[in-house]
Amino acid sequence: MSPQLPYRDFYYPLNVFMYVLSNEERAVPYLHYGLFEDPAESIAAAQERSTELLLSRLPPPPATLLEVGIGLGTTLARLAGMGYDATGITPDLKQIAMVRERYSDQLRVHGIAFENFDETAQFDCVFFQESSQYIDAGALFQRASDLTGHVVVIDEFALAPVDTPGALHSLERFVAAASEHGFQKIEELDLSLQAAPTVQYFTDRLPAYRDRLVSDLALTPQQIDDLIESGTRYHDLYRSGVYGYRLLVFKR
Ligand SMILES: C[S@@+](CC[C@H](N)C(=O)[O-])C[C@H]1O[C@@H](n2cnc3c(N)ncnc32)[C@H](O)[C@@H]1O
Repeated sequence: MSPQLPYRDFYYPLNVFMYVLSNEERAVPYLHYGLFEDPAESIAAAQERSTELLLSRLPPPPATLLEVGIGLGTTLARLAGMGYDATGITPDLKQIAMVRERYSDQLRVHGIAFENFDETAQFDCVFFQESSQYIDAGALFQRASDLTGHVVVIDEFALAPVDTPGALHSLERFVAAASEHGFQKIEELDLSLQAAPTVQYFTDRLPAYRDRLVSDLALTPQQIDDLIESGTRYHDLYRSGVYGYRLLVFKR
């Protein structure tokens, strides 16, 4: 068995994605999908394109930002370096430990879920790069309405009803929840075609890592099989247009 990996106890399946990326790529800055212009380009280049897109929708610095779901802290560190007054949260204390290890105390981070983040300060913008899918849409916009008038989201959604436990949030319900809390959608960009090769990236590679994932991350073979199966299902759902990937901007 390998020495214990610092991301071993990240929430499943983020620990699995981190494992595959760490073994396949020279560096792992992000846990989000890539936006591919060409399916043959590297996942690193495609992930960077997503970050650039996100940055292009933020108010210019200086501004106060809240990043919800900081992952490995790469975007937060970049924002701090650009002159933003940036705060980041994640409920995963293992991520907080890794971010502190990578950036010492340079970044303002809190180990807390967005639903429980009882900050009273106002932010010029609150953004979610693939973290909105973990939060009930009503709870998300209720909490956001106390904190900001500007929300940016990059994430995947169900575009049609899906009768499967754990299915993605409905986009229609997400936008309705925003409106119930006074937010108007001012931009919606369909990125589904660019994002979908990310699913293929993992489904192509996961089978070869099956045994090592079980021993190095202390997972069950069933968990790996479930993930491979879910990748195939996602692939079909993206292809049929039931699942899609969006940039969404809301303002009040
Ligand atoms: C797919 S990762 C994306 C990480 C990072 N934004 C990136 O783009 O690399 C999802 C992130 O959302 C965080 N998350 C999950 N549930 C959350 C919640 N209830 N509140 C805040 N963050 C949450 C995870 O811990 C993780 O940091």
